[in-house]
Amino acid sequence: MVLVASEALHGAVVELFVAVGASNGSALLIADHLVEANLRGHDSHGVGVVPLYLRSIKAGGMNLAQSLRLVTEAGGMMIFDAGHGPGQVMGHHAMEAGIGHAQAHGSAIIGLRNSHHLGRIGHWAEQCAAAGLVSIHFVNVVAGPLVAPFGGKKARLGTNPFAVGFPRVGEEPVVVDFATSRLAMGKVRVYRNMGKTLPDDALLTGQGDKTNDPNELFGDPPGVLVAFGEHKGWGLALACELLGAALLGGETQHDASSGPAVINSMLSILVSPERMGTQDAFGHEMSQVLAWVQSENSERPGGVLLPGELEQATRRERLNLGIPVDTATLGQIASAASDAGLKGLAFQSLMGL
Ligand SMILES: NC(=O)c1ccc[n+]([C@@H]2O[C@H](COP(=O)([O-])OP(=O)(O)OC[C@H]3O[C@@H](n4cnc5c(N)ncnc54)[C@H](O)[C@@H]3O)[C@@H](O)[C@H]2O)c1
Repeated sequence: MVLVASEALHGAVVELFVAVGASNGSALLIADHLVEANLRGHDSHGVGVVPLYLRSIKAGGMNLAQSLRLVTEAGGMMIFDAGHGPGQVMGHHAMEAGIGHAQAHGSAIIGLRNSHHLGRIGHWAEQCAAAGLVSIHFVNVVAGPLVAPFGGKKARLGTNPFAVGFPRVGEEPVVVDFATSRLAMGKVRVYRNMGKTLPDDALLTGQGDKTNDPNELFGDPPGVLVAFGEHKGWGLALACELLGAALLGGETQHDASSGPAVINSMLSILVSPERMGTQDAFGHEMSQVLAWVQSENSERPGGVLLPGELEQATRRERLNLGIPVDTATLGQIASAASDAGLKGLAFQSLMGL
């Protein structure tokens, strides 16, 4: 493990994406998002995805020059097509449009279809919460199937994430944000890079047997992830596929094919408690509920955590101490940069390349 200051990591990511052709603005949004994921403890969606993005750019899977295209606008609804543009850029602009509309009119339904990887979905809930909005996000993943239906052994859908954000006055938002598989794919990569075994009941081998070995997911045939929460998590995964993509006319995962890119489509619903006229009551009732659920803390060290609190605490700690990045991940970024024909980048000097 190497501890890297967030500013240094951010600078290295900006440098790298500018070197592969991103505009400065796009490179900044990509770096903001990836480093924020690391700061919040989701290393699975932090700078460790850079090799995947570089491979995708090289193979034509991520279109760096793409801008967001408004396809439909009707009432409080806007559907955008991202044309495989960088998710961190497409997501930011789509949320900005939704935030403006919800602040003016009370709510917005934003469809963002066919974006390259949107990263940590909680990021979008945080962007809405910072603007005083409640938001709900249903997302599908098209990158080759990874997750088996409940009771099955063969992969059919992606790790389809779901997020909800609740703003709080003077306090950090409550952010529920998770993959509908027991483990996000990137988490399995993190376990593999750190040489750790997986928890039970998260992965099956390609033959359908239970395994704790993260390498199985990347084997031939590849392993299969298990949906969280049995039939309930599987139901939510399917809802993410249908709401996040099918309803928007976005790409769905409906066969075993996989391309060079990770494509996400996302349905976001943004609501303004202020425009609803319930802001004070909402704030009051929410604080009552949160205090009530957190009062159940007698036996556990640290008490009851609210969704989002772990990430907020990790952020404070990592801003102070630096972000731990394992050397396998740093090596993968440095060599992906070399494969892309880049030389003399901060990541490469860090690894002596
Ligand atoms: N873009 C994509 O294609 C894609 C696909 C899958 C996942 N993801 C992202 O991957 C990230 C990781 O997903 P994950 O499934 O590994 O998340 P996870 O299992 O770490 O769960 C995170 C959620 O659970 C809450 N939480 C964690 N520990 C808690 C505790 N002890 N008490 C109460 N709440 C707790 C967190 O605050 C957060 O809301 C997410 O940000 C998700 O959006 C993205």
